[in-house]
Amino acid sequence: MENNQKKGTVKFFSGKQIPLEMHKVRIVQSLNLVSVERRAEAISEAGYNTFLLGTRDIFLDMLTDSGTNAMSDQQLSKMFVADDAYAGSQSFVRFQKSVADVFGKNQILPVHQGRAAENIISQIFVKPGSVVPMNYHFTTTLAHIQLNGGKVVELFTPEAMKIKSTHPFKGNIDIARLDDLIKTSGAENVPFIRMEASTNLIGGQPFSMANLRDVKKVADKYKIIIVMDASLIGENAYFIKKREAEYADKSIGEILKEMCDLCDIVYFSGRKVSSSRGGAICTNSSELFNKMKDLVPLYEGFLTYGGISIREIEAMAQGLYETLEEDVVGQSPSFISYAAEELDKLGVPVILPGGALGCHIDAMQFVSHIPQSEYMAGSLAAAFYIISGVRGMERGTISSIRDENGNDILADLELLRLAFPRRVFTLSQTEYIIDRLNWLYQNRELVGGLKFVEEPAVLRFFTGRLAPVSDWTEKLVAKFKADFGDSL
Ligand code: F0G
Repeated sequence: MENNQKKGTVKFFSGKQIPLEMHKVRIVQSLNLVSVERRAEAISEAGYNTFLLGTRDIFLDMLTDSGTNAMSDQQLSKMFVADDAYAGSQSFVRFQKSVADVFGKNQILPVHQGRAAENIISQIFVKPGSVVPMNYHFTTTLAHIQLNGGKVVELFTPEAMKIKSTHPFKGNIDIARLDDLIKTSGAENVPFIRMEASTNLIGGQPFSMANLRDVKKVADKYKIIIVMDASLIGENAYFIKKREAEYADKSIGEILKEMCDLCDIVYFSGRKVSSSRGGAICTNSSELFNKMKDLVPLYEGFLTYGGISIREIEAMAQGLYETLEEDVVGQSPSFISYAAEELDKLGVPVILPGGALGCHIDAMQFVSHIPQSEYMAGSLAAAFYIISGVRGMERGTISSIRDENGNDILADLELLRLAFPRRVFTLSQTEYIIDRLNWLYQNRELVGGLKFVEEPAVLRFFTGRLAPVSDWTEKLVAKFKADFGDSL
């Protein structure tokens, strides 16, 4: 089903540079925009944590793309021909074939979602004292590696932390530091090198194929395996095609295969890559497969369903084939670039170049008057929800952890992430987001800090509750009403 048609960008006669949807919408869901007073009340009930808001109070849900991308008609139709069986389902055989066709890996362990893959990989390969180098961590990855006694070492390049950059591959790993780290830690203590496609927490930034090839050279030198987190691999492949000259004429399918060929284990969250559920660990090595396989029935379910509904397995299989299409994997990045560039023109600090997954607002500059210990990005997420009804996600110190003395480990970046799930939001909704962010930026002095009132020990950002350090939310609502009158 690979689409080899050569497609270009559609240019507008007017010279406007706006993304054009290459799909039509035939199933819709109504949205609700509640009043600013209700929004202020709702975020207070949610402990100023956007994870704890209910969708009835949300206008545009930009929390995540996980499980919220639009499904295609082809995916929905495949769900009706699912072969429900505890063992030996033909739907799983079709899934295996799609993974082999798209990623070139023929041994597959199904898991119910991405972090379940991380659990199995970490339990098998990470031991107390292990050191795991990576381009950058993801929250659940870090938690699983630490739970097994391992240490995560991030080897990003200085460019990764620059908010405004023109570097096409801010997700690259620093090769010299990688080599050094393995030398000083001892190769026997490095169970694998982890590369995350479209590196989530630094703004969905991709790595280049050249960088991955260099990682492979180091890995071969020390006989260490490479594990790729492929949850956002389609977008990373899209960026390689657009930004790495030698790949301009390659198809997304060819790029995906080349990326996977360089890695020993490829795992992914199906919730992001293709469907609304599921995930898998994929390899061509029987040895690696056999090491991990016994944990699948223990934690997930039998080897041919792995805790995923069979219908979702069909949707995932079809979704993988659709990642071969540039229009599909490029849809979210093109909207993100548009939003980021428009916000930049308005002076709103935003990560550039636009990456995958979401538009990332730099809270360190946006609310520079708030101390980092009062959770800049969390405060901005709460304030933006109050004035727009748009739910984003904090990706900063709240998503980090405390050290052994109980002090916050301040995050490298304080970001408000506004996710653009694939093919879900329209351009006018995107304009609304830009407009409200612009207003908030003009009124940024009104945003104040937050403090924890309930703090779980692990992954605190999911369920922790906070409170404002002053009455700033009331002043923000009053200014909003003064400027917008009876407009929602
Ligand atoms: N790896 C990456 C790079 C991810 O972005 C995610 C999830 C996971 C692993 C875990 O996958 O949720 O299926 O268990 N990211 C979501 C997000 C939750 O909103 O960024 P999961």
